[in-house]
Amino acid sequence: MNTYEQILTQLNENPKTWLITGVAGFIGSNLLETLLVNNQKVVGLDNFSTGHQHNFDQVQAIVSSEQWDNFTFIEGDIRDLKTCESACNGVDFVLHQAALGSVPRSIEDPITTNENNISGYLNMLVAAKNAKVSRFVYAASSSTYGDHPDLPKVEDKIGSPLSPYAVTKVVNELYADVFARTYGFKAIGLRYFNIFGQRQDPNGAYAAVIPKWVASIMANETVYINGDGETSRDFCYIENVMQMNILAATSENEEAANQVYNVALNHRTTLTELFHFIQDKLKARLPELKETELLYRDFRAGDVRHSQADISKAQTLLGYEPSHVIDEGLEEAMDWYVNDLK
Ligand SMILES: NC(=O)c1ccc[n+]([C@@H]2O[C@H](COP(=O)([O-])OP(=O)(O)OC[C@H]3O[C@@H](n4cnc5c(N)ncnc54)[C@H](O)[C@@H]3O)[C@@H](O)[C@H]2O)c1
Repeated sequence: MNTYEQILTQLNENPKTWLITGVAGFIGSNLLETLLVNNQKVVGLDNFSTGHQHNFDQVQAIVSSEQWDNFTFIEGDIRDLKTCESACNGVDFVLHQAALGSVPRSIEDPITTNENNISGYLNMLVAAKNAKVSRFVYAASSSTYGDHPDLPKVEDKIGSPLSPYAVTKVVNELYADVFARTYGFKAIGLRYFNIFGQRQDPNGAYAAVIPKWVASIMANETVYINGDGETSRDFCYIENVMQMNILAATSENEEAANQVYNVALNHRTTLTELFHFIQDKLKARLPELKETELLYRDFRAGDVRHSQADISKAQTLLGYEPSHVIDEGLEEAMDWYVNDLK
């Protein structure tokens, strides 16, 4: 049994109460599913700005009715301190996912991104501190590495942020650090690299690359690659993110608290490679699909060129053992997308 399996066994024997903010979103609804399946009590907070009721419907269809009864949903906004305070009441662990994602969105509207990702985040920190939660785990981001040239990325070497979104994620880390020093608060930041998997939204102007391309290929629409296709990312399957959140929340290793961790695989895939992986997997499932037109266009402002994570810190301090490499994750994700989008 690895560390993660041991912790899941302990949690099943001794259930805890968890708050997930952003619970109606991609990562939040997956956390909800994982925790309910493991018989935890979950409070969820979301304002449905980018999250969806249909994510809840899917989770409800997977878990038992007793497990679903362990979920309490608060429709509300983290920009309101009182809402955050009532959500944190009686909670053991906070998994803070609520934020406005997307680099281009933040370039178009930095003020709204700032309000959600910095003011909202600070409200959550204050509420969680006052409620004396055992651990506050928050969604940080690989965008924090900014223009730092080193590969793979190591947690303590960051560059300058390349977008307003990245600024908000850097500030989140700074606040968590100051709360640790000033109030003895225990927080852990998870620098997610490009996460993918079931329930990631394929729609909208700010959709992430994998669901966007899956939807385009399935609709026989042109796929656009920003840049020359050699831009690379450390794509990380959602199951690995589940593991990191639960390890980070429950770790009793004193050294592990008040840290940030890369959440990825230490593997780089170029955008052109990714396109072919997705196309091949979809064609294997839907042989009637026509050949997709692939067009290259300008690089996108604010994007980093290459991204790959050193994951040794998470392995050493938290016992992280990624369960899915990119190919295994894409296999599972494609099954889900083909069912969901057909
Ligand atoms: N998906 C990735 O690859 C990735 C990479 C790096 C960081 N992250 C971070 O992970 C977190 C989750 O991302 P996701 O991909 O699940 O995005 P998502 O958009 O699917 O989920 C975010 C959720 O937060 C909710 N939300 C936003 N603002 C809110 C507010 N003010 N009050 C209450 N709820 C609010 C949304 O309605 C949505 O349900 C975010 O903090 C994001 O910045 C994601």
